[in-house]
Amino acid sequence: MNLKGKDIISIKDFSKKEINSILKFSKKMIPYAKGEKFTNILQGKVLSTLFFEPSTRTRLSFESSMNRLGGRVIGFADPISTSQKKGESLSDTIRMADSYSDVIVIRHPQEGAARLAAEFSEGPVLNAGDGAGRHPTQCLLDLFTILTEKKAIENNNVVLLGDLKYGRTVHSLAYALALYGAELTFVSPNSLKMPKEVSEECKDLGVEPKYTSNLEKAIKDADVLYVTRIQRERFPDAEEYNRVVGIYKIDNELLKYANDDLIIMHPLPRVTEIDPEVDKTKHAVYFKQAFNGVPVRMALLSSVLGGEL
Ligand code: CP
Repeated sequence: MNLKGKDIISIKDFSKKEINSILKFSKKMIPYAKGEKFTNILQGKVLSTLFFEPSTRTRLSFESSMNRLGGRVIGFADPISTSQKKGESLSDTIRMADSYSDVIVIRHPQEGAARLAAEFSEGPVLNAGDGAGRHPTQCLLDLFTILTEKKAIENNNVVLLGDLKYGRTVHSLAYALALYGAELTFVSPNSLKMPKEVSEECKDLGVEPKYTSNLEKAIKDADVLYVTRIQRERFPDAEEYNRVVGIYKIDNELLKYANDDLIIMHPLPRVTEIDPEVDKTKHAVYFKQAFNGVPVRMALLSSVLGGEL
């Protein structure tokens, strides 16, 4: 697989074979991501991180990845400090970052912003989340986590829980899991159901998702429980948010219904949807999942910049 110079905008841009190859490369990156081995394969390369929305994991793990590979990072975490405040267009901002660096990572509140950025950048653009749209690098680290924890992606019953309407991570993940033929169960309040378009994509791949709002029932058969936060910032109406906030809570009481080998994932940040008491259980893998962002993003940056271990 040759990803050199390629943009990473949507998981749908990749075949299963290409995803498998990225996951294999990510595994090789683990000792480098942990600082147990060292490499300078991206020495002399510069990454621009353009974050128009808040982020902890995605931005810091990209920065850590570039540093661990021997490259350098420029960028911003808040557009208020940029000339966008003076009215500069996104396309001109992208042109500038492209001329100052070799690869761009962008997070933006508008769906389609990363695709637009790719049109104005000669170097590769990696989508770090565009509104309620897609989050492909999160999707790859989620797949990597399922693979490492469960030894396979297929043959798992994956329950996607919470805000399936606005939560962009589950849009990318549902598609990718269907590509592997995993079983899918969507659990959400009625007002936050998975968009029809995503369910249709899963069906086109031969997977018919099950829908329910009953978490106790769904968790009994689950191999993977993927929990999401209710995305307050995307609600047009605060009243609507107040009606659904706190509707699902994962705690030790609920886990009495779970399989012994259930893993609980969350893209984080969590707010109230997972009780901290769950962190100590064998089911909780969400902090490992967040760490997995580093080897996966190291593999992606190396691939698009042509670096080889
Ligand atoms: N998972 C994720 O995208 O986290 P951040 O918003 O902190 O980057």
